Amino acid sequence: MKDYIIAIDQGTTSSKILLINKKNEIVDKDYIEIGKQELPGGEILQNPIEILLSVQELLNRLFERNNLDPKRIDSIAITNQRESTIIWNKKTGKPVYDVISWQAYNTNYLTKEWVKKGYERKVFDKTGLLINPYFSASKIKHILNNTNENIEDLLFGTIDTFLLWNLSVEKNHKTDISNASRTMLFNIHDNKWDKELLEDFEIPEAILPTVSNNNDLFGHYEYQGVKIPIQAMIGDQQSALFGHLCVDNGDVKVTYGTGCFILTNIGDRPCQSKSGLLTTVAWKLDEKVIYALEGSVFMGGSAVRWMRDKLNLVNNVDDSELMAYGSKNDNVYVVPAFVGLGAPYWDNDIKASILGLEANTTKADIMKATLNSIAYQVTDILEIIKKETNTSIKSIAVDGGASNNNYLMQFQSDLINVKLLQNTESEITGLGSAFISGLKTGFFESINEIRKNQKIKKIFIPTSNQKRVVDLYERWKLAVKATQLFK
Ligand code: G3P
Repeated sequence: MKDYIIAIDQGTTSSKILLINKKNEIVDKDYIEIGKQELPGGEILQNPIEILLSVQELLNRLFERNNLDPKRIDSIAITNQRESTIIWNKKTGKPVYDVISWQAYNTNYLTKEWVKKGYERKVFDKTGLLINPYFSASKIKHILNNTNENIEDLLFGTIDTFLLWNLSVEKNHKTDISNASRTMLFNIHDNKWDKELLEDFEIPEAILPTVSNNNDLFGHYEYQGVKIPIQAMIGDQQSALFGHLCVDNGDVKVTYGTGCFILTNIGDRPCQSKSGLLTTVAWKLDEKVIYALEGSVFMGGSAVRWMRDKLNLVNNVDDSELMAYGSKNDNVYVVPAFVGLGAPYWDNDIKASILGLEANTTKADIMKATLNSIAYQVTDILEIIKKETNTSIKSIAVDGGASNNNYLMQFQSDLINVKLLQNTESEITGLGSAFISGLKTGFFESINEIRKNQKIKKIFIPTSNQKRVVDLYERWKLAVKATQLFK
């Protein structure tokens, strides 16, 4: 009797594990925090062994704590921070470089060269992405440029692939199509690694993993002699889209995590954005591909953490909500471009700023402005989605740590003038991958069955006077422009 699915959610700030039953309930969960090194010049690194050990430890702890018989596990699903890049030696298993985080932008010396060579149009047409150090391609090339190892011995992977290679008894070197679509090497029209781009970027195809559908059998994890199928892998943002059951054209979700990721389901045709959004593969289940338009904001919850850690504005990020409610000041603006700005600006050279300070400005005012900046950045993207999909957004599914901040959610709802739906379950990302796995194995009967067990915890309805928020938003655009001038 199969009672549970295990979902592994490997993210930037932590690795998480969930034990999920047939009613979509998370019956146990656990996490381990992951460190990162922020070096001058925009290099941001994570330790691949720390990441791997955290996941192995979470699996062991889950089995032991619940005294779990591995035969009761239907399958394992893996979802992960995307783009972050690892290269390791297939003979020794040792990484040849630390994980270069998705947030790192030190490889812009390569992307600038590629832009100069005139590759921009080609890359956008083939991959749906803009040339930017955010994606894996320049990170891969940077590692290859900085290793003395024999190239024939090397394998590349995003985190999903590295985990699979290490966790599966078969030592499979595979990725899934959603993660592949974030490398800037994958052609989203014919769903293959793009030979021409590989040649342009001088990246050998032999180091790349095989690309599978999200619900293919990726391999087996063995526990106490029992082989458990790894039946789903998917990038975390696409997984959250599925976790909210945004499975219809036009459905939108926003995850307020380290960064903010806004995805809208655009169905089976990969339309292109004219205003800085990305086209990406949402998922491919069996033979059907679904695409998404995505806007990625590099600093979301991280901006509040920065204010806590570097300026000591709060002891606990949760206190930011009360602080913001306590401020009556609308004149302070934070532009949190600590690692440049993502969509729709795509500016790696901009530095962060705080504008509008006066002698009586308080910590609370700056904290409120930081929370506002998250909502403004998300609004930048939602406005483009509205325009480009030519539809009004009926509601937005929200998740991620900062979605628990009532001040932020209310301000967001007011700004975009749309209601926000917050699910009872906060671990939507892990759930999405588990749904994909369980729908394939028959653990879950259908999407409709899953939907019956989904519950909405809170709805944020626009309340504020529209003129006020429109004026505030106009000033945000000015604040970004002013900040862009100072480089
Ligand atoms: O594109 C980056 C994203 O996948 C990272 O997500 O939540 O681990 O910061 P998160």
